[in-house]
Amino acid sequence: MARITASVYTSHVPAIGVAIDQGLTQQDYWKPLFQGYEFSKQWLKQSKPDVVFLVYNDHASAFSLELIPTFAIGLADQFEPADEGYGARPVPTVIGHPELATHIAQSVIQDDFDLTLANKLDVDHGLTVPLSLMCGQPPATDFQWPCKVIPFAVNVVQYPVPSGRRCFQLGQAIRRAVESFDEDLNVQIWGTGGMSHQLQGARAGLINRAWDNKFLDRLIAEPEALSQMSHIDYVREAGSEGIELVMWLIARGAMADVAGGGAPVLKHRFYHVPASNTAVGHLILENPAEATASNRSEPA
Ligand code: DHB
Ligand code: FE
Repeated sequence: MARITASVYTSHVPAIGVAIDQGLTQQDYWKPLFQGYEFSKQWLKQSKPDVVFLVYNDHASAFSLELIPTFAIGLADQFEPADEGYGARPVPTVIGHPELATHIAQSVIQDDFDLTLANKLDVDHGLTVPLSLMCGQPPATDFQWPCKVIPFAVNVVQYPVPSGRRCFQLGQAIRRAVESFDEDLNVQIWGTGGMSHQLQGARAGLINRAWDNKFLDRLIAEPEALSQMSHIDYVREAGSEGIELVMWLIARGAMADVAGGGAPVLKHRFYHVPASNTAVGHLILENPAEATASNRSEPA
């Protein structure tokens, strides 16, 4: 049986991809940010997922503003890095898992979540920057990501966007789907985007450290209550692009405790400002059976 062993949460920012691609990660501006992911890269190597179910948002790269699905699942064999206006990032093609993705689509749609099926999907910084942060740059000699990836795109670009509550429920349906797949697979679910940031208008540049850290606390300890928060609260407190955080609730909803299992173990927590215009937040939560004291980044 496939199982979800862990969830990862991380912000994305295109400039992080540029810093990696241009070898700038040791510069004064970037060094503290990338240090926060050193533990994570080691952890990922140890935890060896077969598949990452990667919840992200497309930024009008694969989907034009003419057609915007609320939830879209990538069913293809592979997904190319998108050209976001400066050529595609020099990162590997993302290899999918069509069998598991199709099974999840079948199960989740029968569970009353109407997904869009994406048979071709170029993936933008929303997906490739989290992969780069967690995996580092794959060596030229073995230029591939270390695991398969199922892209799952959520509309947080044009209103109306899905509620946090809906996202949290969807995560629970995804967990049921993964656990009914009849192959022994180590699956992680990643929720990406956020934290506080606003890219346009009078409040451009907004960052809210206190709110972000409270969001991290609540995501760990009381995700169900957090999922009730309304859009207006996200936008007021975390800026217009802070709404990307609803995607973290999909990953959190897929964790064991939400279905009556044990509480997740906090493996790593990191927060840093600034990265371009964005506050960067990052968590790793493991389901209890997977957790060992030796691979934790900080004392429990
Ligand atoms: C930035 C952040 C984003 O989430 C994004 O999609 C584009 C740019 C930024 O901080 O520059
Ligand atoms: Fe974004």
